[in-house]
This record gives sequence, C-alpha cells and structure tokens, in this order.
Amino acid sequence: MQFLFSSIGKKIQVAISGIFLCIFLVFHLLNNITLFFGPAVFNAMVHFLESIKPMIRIMEFGLLFILIMHIGNAIKLTIENKAANPVNYKQSQSNDVSSLNSRTMLISGTIILLFIILHLSYIWLSYQTHNPNNHSETYYDILLRNKIGFLGHKWTALFYVIAISIIAFHLRHGFQSALKTLGFLPNSKNNFLYKIAFIFWGIIPFGFIVIVLSIQFGIIN
Ligand code: HEM
Repeated sequence: MQFLFSSIGKKIQVAISGIFLCIFLVFHLLNNITLFFGPAVFNAMVHFLESIKPMIRIMEFGLLFILIMHIGNAIKLTIENKAANPVNYKQSQSNDVSSLNSRTMLISGTIILLFIILHLSYIWLSYQTHNPNNHSETYYDILLRNKIGFLGHKWTALFYVIAISIIAFHLRHGFQSALKTLGFLPNSKNNFLYKIAFIFWGIIPFGFIVIVLSIQFGIIN
C-alpha cells in the first residue's frame, strides 16, 4: 500500500491506467470503423453490444475507475512535483523540458477530459431526447443522419479533429514517459516498444480522424 501511494507507485499507476485507456481506444476505433460498412452493420454491432449489456456495464465501470485512477494520480504527482520544486514559472527556463512536458500534459489532459464529457453528453443526451421510447432512431442516425447529425456539421467535425490531434499529442508524450517509468529506456534494445507506441499515438488517432473526415466528405453517409 505504501509503495502504491509513493511517488513512483503513483507514476506506475498513471502509466498502467494510461495503457488500459489506450486499449479502450483500440476497441472504440474498431467499433466505429463499422460505420464504413453502412447503417445495417453499425447498428448490428450496437445491438450486439446491447445484448451483452451487463458485461458492457462492468467494463464501463472499470473504464471509469481507470480514468479516475489516471487523472487523480496525475494531478497528485503534478502538485507534489510543484511543491518539491517551487520555481516560479516566470523564472523557469524555456528549455526546462520536464516541467514543460508536465505542464503541457496537464493542459492536454484537461482538454481531453472536456472532450470526453462533451462527446458523451452529446451522444447520450441526443439518444435519450430523440429516442425516449422506441429504438427506431439509432446511434448511426445521431452520428450522421438526423437533424443534429453531429459529425456531419463542419464545426463539430473540426472540433473533433482538433481534440483527436490533442489526444495524439498527449499519447505520444504519455507513452514515452510511461515506458520510461516502467523501466524501458529508449535505447536500441527497447526501440521496438517505442515503435509499437506509434500504433497508439499515431495510427489510432489517425483512424478516428479518417472516420470524421469520411463523414464530412460523404464517404460514410
Ligand atoms: C470518430 C470519432 C468517434 C465516434 C464516431 C464515436 C462514437 C461513440 C459512440 C456512438 C458512443 C456511444 C456508445 C455507447 O454508449 O454504447 C461513444 C462512447 C464513448 N466514446 Fe466515442 N467516438 C469517437 C471518438 C472518441 C474518442 C477519440 C474518444 C477518446 C477520448 C472517445 C471516447 C468515448 C468514451 C469514453 C465513450 C463511453 C464508452 C462506453 O460507454 O462504452 N470517443 N463514442
């Protein structure tokens, strides 16, 4: 327990929870890729997920727990680091890479949290207000068919592209620091892991952006 709440313990918690959040993103992208196969396939995927709802609920609680663990420990670490090095920002040098990284990680992390809150409020509220009794209106309609068809709007799409790019930036720095925390320094022996990380911070966000742009340009319609 003592180790878990020590500075290194918290860093390990941030690293491991971050990796689990990335695994969620892989599954989320795979689910959303079915948009390319049309409403029937996408809705069938949603129906399948609804048919295993108890399991999905447990996974959602797990995801929430991991998210809280990630954010809580990251904030605690930042506060502790600041208390240990009480250097005024004005005095800190611009080439102070580690403080710059932790500051930008906190900012990008906050933006991502806001994005998730907006993303979920929008999807879930639209689903409930537009589809209170029957399930004739699907997530597919909400994403791009009905009056709100939100990823079809250019400003919403632009907001998504910017938010997803910030996620990519956060994951790039996050992976580098998580691998170091877990003892994989970026030498030739571990370079493979740093390359694998590119799948998570490069390819996965790129996949989400391709989906948003495909809706925008009518490839998914
Ligand atoms: C093309 C972009 C995206 C689309 C079309 C999309 C679509 C959706 C849909 C339809 C849901 C509702 C699923 C349900 O409640 O059963 C959902 C949930 C969710 N999305 Fe996204 N999403 C996108 C990008 C993202 C990104 C980049 C993130 C990462 C920060 C994200 C995080 C989440 C989370 C955390 C949930 C809740 C998970 C759950 O309840 O199972 N989404 N998304």
